[in-house]
Amino acid sequence: MSFSLHQVGVTHGNGHEALTAITLAAQQGESVALIGPSGAGKTSLLNTIGTALPLSAGTLTVLNQAAWQDKASLRALRARIGTVHQAAPIPPRQRVVTAVLAGKLGQWPAWKSALSLLYPQDMPGARQALERVHLADKLFARCDQLSGGQLQRVGIARVLYQQAQLILADEPVSALDPTLALSTVQLLVQEAKARNATLVASLHAVDLALSCFERLVGIRDGRIAFDLPANKVTDVQLRALYAAESSAPPPSRPAQGTTSDGNLPAHGCR
Ligand SMILES: Nc1ncnc2c1ncn2[C@@H]1O[C@H](COP(=O)(O)OP(=O)(O)OP(=O)(O)O)[C@@H](O)[C@H]1O
Ligand SMILES: [Mg+2]
Repeated sequence: MSFSLHQVGVTHGNGHEALTAITLAAQQGESVALIGPSGAGKTSLLNTIGTALPLSAGTLTVLNQAAWQDKASLRALRARIGTVHQAAPIPPRQRVVTAVLAGKLGQWPAWKSALSLLYPQDMPGARQALERVHLADKLFARCDQLSGGQLQRVGIARVLYQQAQLILADEPVSALDPTLALSTVQLLVQEAKARNATLVASLHAVDLALSCFERLVGIRDGRIAFDLPANKVTDVQLRALYAAESSAPPPSRPAQGTTSDGNLPAHGCR
């Protein structure tokens, strides 16, 4: 089991109950998309699984370890979890290479981590990760001189470099154009599959969730609305998930499976 939540509740500092009675588990190697309207609780759920938010109720097991035991085991557990944040928490003046290498700070001994901040310790590794998100030429650029989408890809390069067993990605492609968003989600899914890592990603792009992930979890008002294989999610369920949150038309299901000539669609995951 990669992670397991049992009847988990999460209440933020101001007393707002963001998650209620969440029971959810994933096997190692699964790829799961979290979808749902803004404010539904997707970020709160990812942060809970990543042990960044304490529970107010229930139990959490991550990578076969009970979370929230002592400080040392929590620290060791966090080093095995890779997170792509909704807003990348990268110090603005930091170089791209340093930001990518930061992925392994939790795994390296303290002396190597400290040294890496001054003298990057694994330049080829950082370059390789950046190549995969088409940013190899930005190795020595300053993070505050990148575009929003480039900065988001630095966050993805960092998680690729980290080689975590559990990857939690919060809106990892929200700042990317549609073509790059698709190829970047594909990259994350393939990377996770290749290493038998678990991937949980929140996405506002329902078409990407449906076409690239094997399992979709719909979140609404801090609860699980549905938890289904991607090909079992219906338009009615999607409409209900997003109902009354916006006057815009609900997201439509993209063409699935093969085209009429039996080929895979040119730009889709399936
Ligand atoms: N730090 C916080 N303190 C208090 N309330 C919070 C905090 N973070 C989130 N919330 C509240 O918890 C609820 C869930 O927020 P969360 O960020 O998990 O939603 P989300 O599904 O990720 O939304 P979005 O799609 O806009 O990113 C919201 O009502 C939000 O206002
Ligand atoms: Mg969010």
